Amino acid sequence: MEKPSFSPLIAGTMKWGKWGAQMPQTQMSRYIEHCLSLDIRTFDCAAIYGGYTTEAEFGAALADLSIERKDFRVITKCGIEYPCEQNPIDLKHYDCTFDYILSSVERSLQRLRVDSLDLFLLHRPSPLMDPEVVAAAIDVLKKTGKIQSFGVSNFSTSTLSLLGKHVAIDTNQIQCSLTHLSPFTDGTLDVHLQNKISTQCWNPLGTLFSNKGDREGRIIDLTTSLSKKYGVAVNALCIAWLLKHPARLAPVVGTANEKHLSEMAESVQVEMEQIDWFRLYSASTGIDVP
Ligand SMILES: NC(=O)c1ccc[n+]([C@@H]2O[C@H](COP(=O)([O-])OP(=O)(O)OC[C@H]3O[C@@H](n4cnc5c(N)ncnc54)[C@H](OP(=O)(O)O)[C@@H]3O)[C@@H](O)[C@H]2O)c1
Repeated sequence: MEKPSFSPLIAGTMKWGKWGAQMPQTQMSRYIEHCLSLDIRTFDCAAIYGGYTTEAEFGAALADLSIERKDFRVITKCGIEYPCEQNPIDLKHYDCTFDYILSSVERSLQRLRVDSLDLFLLHRPSPLMDPEVVAAAIDVLKKTGKIQSFGVSNFSTSTLSLLGKHVAIDTNQIQCSLTHLSPFTDGTLDVHLQNKISTQCWNPLGTLFSNKGDREGRIIDLTTSLSKKYGVAVNALCIAWLLKHPARLAPVVGTANEKHLSEMAESVQVEMEQIDWFRLYSASTGIDVP
């Protein structure tokens, strides 16, 4: 089976609905069109977003546009059972049992109004995950054409290795940014490169705009000065910093603001000098490399 190709930047839908901007359907359709106009053709969803409501809102907004299926990609995830209005359970927990995976994909396909997912991810590793059971479910989903590729999210290198013995893992979607550097040093990106596992970075701007700490201050000061050199905005430089890594990181950008999205789309044009990559790395850690 030929693997689907994804755009260099991915639009994350987590804050488009109830968990953020609460876009009405027409506004969400316009926002999807804006993404496509910037060549951001891949959309990241998850069953739990908006308390199990955002997939359906996104699906309706997408269907309104009558875009040819070949012109966009949809990612979604399953596995987090979250207590909310749509899911009246009394404890947040994980589920990656055979029947759960199959039924969650079925529900996501209906909500998203597509016949097949381009990429399906297990949202979080469960301590109760049986790799053979997951592999059997993914086999069924691939053979029936319900998913085109499979991956995981937030998996450590050891859990990747365990599951990877039973099923091909195309992607690991992880937290990774200038303010969350551990994947660069804990072996995660090495293992991804070695095993040809694509890396998607969630929260690619990290805490840059949400915290006012010393680290964020140093990064803002430096990116503000570098933005003059490279001719792009501060948020775009943070994305360009991720794009420079040889593991070909794919940032999942979560903005619900058209201007911010347009700014970040310019990151793909930036050819960041190696010395500036290290300037930013050191601005984050607060010290020079050893
Ligand atoms: N796999 C997982 O476990 C997991 C977990 C969390 C998220 N995700 C995925 O990752 C996506 C992105 O996550 P995220 O939203 O946390 O990350 P993000 O893209 O790093 O965005 C963080 C925040 O930065 C703000 N921002 C951007 N440019 C700005 C500027 N110039 N000035 C001020 N604020 C600015 C955005 O607000 P505005 O809307 O105002 O621009 C946004 O709320 C989600 O949508 C979801 O698809 C996955």
